[in-house]
Amino acid sequence: MVITATLPVVLRGRCLAWANRPGCVTKSSSLRIAIDGPAAAGKTTVARATAHRLGILYLDTGAMYRTLACLALRAGTDADNGAALARLMQTSPIAVELDESAQLGFRIFAGGHELDETTLSSNEVTAIVSTVAAQPQVRTEMVSAQRRIAHDAPVVMAGRDIGTVVLPDAPVKIYLTASIPARIERRRRQLQAAGFEVDAHRLAQEIEERDRLDQSRAISPLAPAPDAHIIDSSEIDAERVVDEICAVVAAASP
Ligand code: DC
Repeated sequence: MVITATLPVVLRGRCLAWANRPGCVTKSSSLRIAIDGPAAAGKTTVARATAHRLGILYLDTGAMYRTLACLALRAGTDADNGAALARLMQTSPIAVELDESAQLGFRIFAGGHELDETTLSSNEVTAIVSTVAAQPQVRTEMVSAQRRIAHDAPVVMAGRDIGTVVLPDAPVKIYLTASIPARIERRRRQLQAAGFEVDAHRLAQEIEERDRLDQSRAISPLAPAPDAHIIDSSEIDAERVVDEICAVVAAASP
């Protein structure tokens, strides 16, 4: 399936043979799974593994905000200038293609060029992305694009506001959290694997600062939806978290 939508965010989606996978616990074409939570709680690993197990699509919406942060850095646009960021999305449209075989589990393009994990995870991008994501003009575009993706295919969507704002009617909402030390350790391993130098003290400061910004912003602050299942992943591995989510999915399936 190919999904296209109006500018400024262009979407191209590829739907997998989701209903025929071994281990697939549901065949509902309306399945939407929202996974929210703070930075480094394990959302992307768990969301991707859940999508794989269920045979449905996966999108980490944080990558969309990170892509815009990359564009802002390249263009010299201030991270807190919502109007200029909105113009940037017009001149360099962001495209998303859902494709399980891609490095990230999906592909993301800005102005026609694909961005890789190293670029999206760079310190420069991480330093400004929370400010970019706090701009109302930016969120309006991103949320409507994310809704269009979820409208066209069963999907596991990870982010901060998926269960509260993007897909408030999602039948399955998960809020994935973990202790600060567990999150620091997880991010440290992730960054090292991607080839980045890591300073644990700086990492702790960065995670706490991003929590503060994500939770205190005026629009769509990070918070669990009232009907979200809260899972603390501090002491359990990703596989067990996926088991728990699949149990919630099975219970929610008609
Ligand atoms: O998950 P992440 O670290 O890649 O997210 C990058 C930033 O984008 C983070 O500061 C929170 C923000 N974000 C958001 O505001 N809403 C989302 N749905 C996803 C991410």
